[in-house]
This record gives sequence, structure tokens and C-alpha cells, in this order.
Amino acid sequence: MVYVTRREVFSAAHRLHNPELTDQENEDIFDKCNNYHGHGHNYILEVVVAGEINPKTGYLIDLKKLKKILHEHVISKVDHKHLNFDVPFMEGVNPTAENIAVGIWNQLVDNIDEGRLFSVKLFETENNYIEYRGE
Ligand code: NI
Repeated sequence: MVYVTRREVFSAAHRLHNPELTDQENEDIFDKCNNYHGHGHNYILEVVVAGEINPKTGYLIDLKKLKKILHEHVISKVDHKHLNFDVPFMEGVNPTAENIAVGIWNQLVDNIDEGRLFSVKLFETENNYIEYRGE
């Protein structure tokens, strides 16, 4: 079993807010991230595909192909967008890094046709990242 990682970066805005809570509760929980007009991050996304080496190519998955899949299903939909308003796969979801990672997983899991999607890592800052492995 080998693991192939592709890293991508994208910039996006969001506001952390749960409409089921009061304004005060939202402010208490999300603090600056609840800022009414949102704020931005330069996100780093690392997608790991796991599987066997194809003896014909020596690849698990051609990284050019993985890059294309990531751009088509994720980056083109989130880069320079506001995650609360512009991104169909995040509609109705509070765009925490956790929820974005799960949303990205769901965008990709059926579109990786060599090997299988193993993990989605999303760095929101240099020091904080979320990893989702589909369970
Ligand atoms: Ni934020």
C-alpha cells in the first residue's frame, strides 16, 4: 500500500455562525470568527490517496490527474469565494475547518477512480489543521 499526497492552496472567506443560537451565544463561542462581514484564510489542502502501485505505470494515481480532479471538484468552487454564500456544497453548513474538510471529502470520494481517498487535511492557519478520513 502506498500513499500519494497532493497539496493545493486556496483563499476563501467565511463567518462562523450558528443561526440556531443567539447573537450573544455566537459571539461567545466563535469570538472574532463571528465577525459580521466575515474574514479570510489562505487554506492549505492536502489530499491523500491510498492504494496499490499500478504495474503498468508505476503510479498509484497520476498526480496530474489528481490535480485535475481537485481543481474541478474543489478548488474551482472555493477559491476566492465566500464559503457562507458562494459554495453549493457548503450551503446551510457552518463553515468551520471541520465542516469544510468533510465537505471536500464528499466532493472527492466518488471521483477518485485509482486507489481510494484516504484523508483530507485542511490547514486553516500555520498551526491548526483538521484531518478527515471519512468516518
Ligand atoms: Ni476563520
